[in-house]
Amino acid sequence: MDDTKTVLETRLRAVFDAVETGADPVLRPSDHADFQANGALALAKRLGRQPRELAAEIAAAASLDDLCETVEVSGPGFINLTLSTSFIANQLSAMAADDRLGVLGSEPENVIIDYSSPNVAKEMHVGHLRGTVIGDALCRMLTYVGHHVRRENHIGDWGTPFGMLIEHLIDVGEEKAVLELSVGDLDTFYRQARASFDSDPTFRDRSRARVVLLQSGDAETMRLWQILVAESVRYFDEVYAKLGVLLTDDDIVGESAYNSMLADVVRDLDGLGLLVESDGARCVFPPGFTNRNGDPLPLIVRKSDGGYGYAATDLAAIRDRVGRLGATEILYVVGAPQAQHFEMCFAAATMAGWLPDGVRVAHVSFGSVQGADHKILKTRAGDRIRLVDLLDEAVERAETAIAEKNPDLDAATRGSVAKMLGVGAIKYADLSTDRTRDYVFDWERMLAFEGNTAPYLQYAHARIRSIFRRGNAAVPDPGPLPLLTEPAERDLALALLGFNDAVTSTLGSWNPSRLCAYLFDLATTFTGFYENCPVLKAPTDELRTSRLALSDLTARVLAQGLELLGISAPDQM
Ligand code: ARG
Repeated sequence: MDDTKTVLETRLRAVFDAVETGADPVLRPSDHADFQANGALALAKRLGRQPRELAAEIAAAASLDDLCETVEVSGPGFINLTLSTSFIANQLSAMAADDRLGVLGSEPENVIIDYSSPNVAKEMHVGHLRGTVIGDALCRMLTYVGHHVRRENHIGDWGTPFGMLIEHLIDVGEEKAVLELSVGDLDTFYRQARASFDSDPTFRDRSRARVVLLQSGDAETMRLWQILVAESVRYFDEVYAKLGVLLTDDDIVGESAYNSMLADVVRDLDGLGLLVESDGARCVFPPGFTNRNGDPLPLIVRKSDGGYGYAATDLAAIRDRVGRLGATEILYVVGAPQAQHFEMCFAAATMAGWLPDGVRVAHVSFGSVQGADHKILKTRAGDRIRLVDLLDEAVERAETAIAEKNPDLDAATRGSVAKMLGVGAIKYADLSTDRTRDYVFDWERMLAFEGNTAPYLQYAHARIRSIFRRGNAAVPDPGPLPLLTEPAERDLALALLGFNDAVTSTLGSWNPSRLCAYLFDLATTFTGFYENCPVLKAPTDELRTSRLALSDLTARVLAQGLELLGISAPDQM
């Protein structure tokens, strides 16, 4: 099917182009009409013409009779478009018959999306929530519109801390250490290793020697390192399973995967004349990056001790992703504090020619999750909160909330719905916040059945499904055109037709909060419809079928929209 807004824009653009090419009739939903085009203002300015006059000329020349009831010039030179009911009805029935619910396909790109990326032998805290959940939602949407998506979990599995971690593993004893790590007590393990390193000079020496052994690929050292990686990955998998994200072990491409490429990266940068020696380290100085004093900032690729740093690995990864894997787009879903690191890596990679034209890279940055005090979320005892504990608590709280709301639900259903609601609530609270902003973690708000929350949307979906159950009604064929006589029916129809735009604009900004805002608006609009338009008790059979069709399509869009966010929608709750 053709997207409603796109059809209108294309028609108008043709007329704009006849006046002057390159003009853009951007359409927005409007309070005064279904859509408002405001492009005539800019065009008039450019041509030195009177904007209302130009708008009137364009409105008259555009043949929109088959799509619009009225086309009017308003304000300083806007063009207000009110769609005809038959066009809306046709669009809607095409949408209902479409597997992708009217969401347009994109020219396929090879997208690599680097997200989650926790560190071996370190706990997954609430800070890892955002990257994992936002990255996952973007993967789902990118795939939905037809891109080839490759997930990469760039886990931190290499570097100097592993000397100390391996020595600690030896001290604790393999068996006991594995036990500690397998129950997810990663923080204790890391903290104890750190404490020995800080207090015991012998341990410190051993750790340093161990790093050298690790870097030289010593077999026994690699075996011990492998234990740490394997146990951590097993633990990450447990968290991912609870969270319900797409990541699997196949997606792990840790920092260590690039070891064999680092020497080449440095050699090639050197060959290109991009390396500068600074305090014994070998650095790239991408232009435009300075510190507070205005001095050029180095991107260190090889440290003064000969080791390679985080930046070298990321440069190797860019080169490999573009050169070997053919990525045309690379997205890094990583917290805002790493913004400068990525900007500098992208700049250095561009200087080296590893990011040719036509390859797009972006740091999809996000803000932090805070406690009520606007600081990092902590437990009452002052410890950082583990992500698993947060998820378990969410499910518990959801179970209580469901028991209150629907005491008749059998225990098994209640249990499975509680998982969808609890985890959904956490994910949705995260996704519905503009990703660049920080937000305060708030149980009450995220689990509420009112407001822009997962439970509200899940409930809206389940309520529609219950209409069908109560009325013993079959889901109508997408065939017959819906009747849009009441304003509330028309409003709902227009809201449904906005699905493509919501997904497109989410992907245009990599900001899932846009899809969330859309779904919330759709659910609210449905409530308005349901209050004004009896469905099962509609005055005629024809109207009943039509309203059932509108209801079903709403449920499908809600379920699909939630699915794109990685959230399940139960049929009853
Ligand atoms: N492991 C890193 C951290 O916890 C994040 C890695 C992000 N991805 C990347 N390609 N640098 O900070």
